[in-house]
Amino acid sequence: MSMHLYQLSSKLLEDTVGTVNENLTSVLLAVSVITLSLGYFSKLLLRKSADDNLKYPPYIPSSVPFLGHAIAFGKSPIEFLEQAYEKYGPVFSFTMVGKTFTYLLGSEAATLMFNSKNDDLNAEDVYSRLTTPVFGKGVAYDVPNPIFLEQKKMLKTGLNMAHFKQHVKIMEAETIEYFQRWGDSGERNLFEALSELIILTASSCLHGKEIRSQLDERVAQLYADLDGGFSHAAWLLPGWLPLPSFRKRDQAHREIKNIFFKVIQKRRTSGEKVDDILQTLIDATYKDGRPLNDDEITGLLIGLLLAGQHTSSTTSAWMGFFMARDRTLQERCYAEQKAVCGDDLPPLHFDQLKDLSLLDRCLKETLRLRPPIMTMMRMARSPQTAAGYTIPVGHQVCVSPTVNQRLHDTWLERMEFNPDRYLTDNPAAREKFAYVPFGAGRHRCIGENFAYVQIKTIWSTLLRMYDFELVDGYFPTINYTTMIHTPHNPIIRYKRRKP
Ligand code: HEM
Repeated sequence: MSMHLYQLSSKLLEDTVGTVNENLTSVLLAVSVITLSLGYFSKLLLRKSADDNLKYPPYIPSSVPFLGHAIAFGKSPIEFLEQAYEKYGPVFSFTMVGKTFTYLLGSEAATLMFNSKNDDLNAEDVYSRLTTPVFGKGVAYDVPNPIFLEQKKMLKTGLNMAHFKQHVKIMEAETIEYFQRWGDSGERNLFEALSELIILTASSCLHGKEIRSQLDERVAQLYADLDGGFSHAAWLLPGWLPLPSFRKRDQAHREIKNIFFKVIQKRRTSGEKVDDILQTLIDATYKDGRPLNDDEITGLLIGLLLAGQHTSSTTSAWMGFFMARDRTLQERCYAEQKAVCGDDLPPLHFDQLKDLSLLDRCLKETLRLRPPIMTMMRMARSPQTAAGYTIPVGHQVCVSPTVNQRLHDTWLERMEFNPDRYLTDNPAAREKFAYVPFGAGRHRCIGENFAYVQIKTIWSTLLRMYDFELVDGYFPTINYTTMIHTPHNPIIRYKRRKP
């Protein structure tokens, strides 16, 4: 539900300015940039008068006013952070687009974020402006965190074993049907296909059959418009600007809400009790006995779908490329399918998924090297201490799973894709926050089990259907211009397996 919020790069400015094609909008944009700049310079002046006795985190200087390190960071964020770690240690600050970011790198430094109270390191302050227009009011970061925690608990009740058992069947069937269009062999965009498949499976499993049955091209476009709300422009610019992408997002939100309202209403009046997540939410109550209203149910359903959409589709695409690159590993995974499920490969069962341990480790290792959420962020609402430094109020405090999961003083052969590393003693296992693709603490992901079921089911099905290889040895580079780091030019070669 959180997102990788701020790959602030030259691309960002291009994107933002590119969408502003009306004169009025350009003027408004200029005004907001000037306002932000004024805020930035006054902050700089104020900082001089701050308490000089406090030891602040090392600050990476920049000669570029306002933009600061946005260009270098946007171009290659991981490299930027790793170099800063070498030079300044686990805690350091720098400025981008008028905002000061303090990173806590490595397991020990990250403890501050994961053990903090939401009132001290606050998530709403950084995420709400993106999520509230997309999910709607009354849920997630639009409400005080104790309420969101109650909502997370309700969602978690719906993400249970009994439902997962049904989900495996649905996901397998959706995968077989979707990939019929791929034929026997060819070269295709794997990421695009998996993104489309994941929205279909997530809609079936998380929203239920009534909503899934309405998922045609028009509704898919509405989801895409809604999803367009998770943009650099939405994060950076005031919400009242009349940008086309903002208008599309708001219109899509209204239309999707109407679709969901009708389905919820029908369920409520029909009295039919279907055992699915929608029903779990209709029946759920807060601690004080109040049930969720239709706005809240709708917001949570949108949130569930979008929280898992990019995270699971990028992860499964990267996993495909890692397996295509290592054909021996791919064959081992296929052999595991036969060993666990039987030589004739009958339909998959939820109970078999946990025994697919090599596939499980491949997913775990994919999430180590390509965690979809590169940075978790909070706003410091009170001064915080890490590694002997005082982090002032107003800093955006960040932890990066990507960096923690490849730190050279924690991980052996850190850049190798080696799923078997988890079979032997590894130093990272002794560090609590060395591996955090799903976060930790009060904001921890509730979708981990669902994501594992979904990605393992899709890949079990695909490995049974096809043999994959890289196209002329090309392994995708990382596209840093998207909020979640997607594979660049993600074309894969495939050939149907002989039975
Ligand atoms: C590979 C798949 C996924 C990954 C890697 C992932 C990762 C994360 C991370 C890192 C966080 C913590 C964010 C933070 O602390 O700022 C998070 C939170 C969350 N995720 Fe996921 N997620 C995935 C899939 C899902 C799915 C499928 C769902 C829903 C079905 C989901 C729902 C949530 C929710 C509700 C939160 C809580 C946010 C909060 O309390 O602030 N995620 N996820």
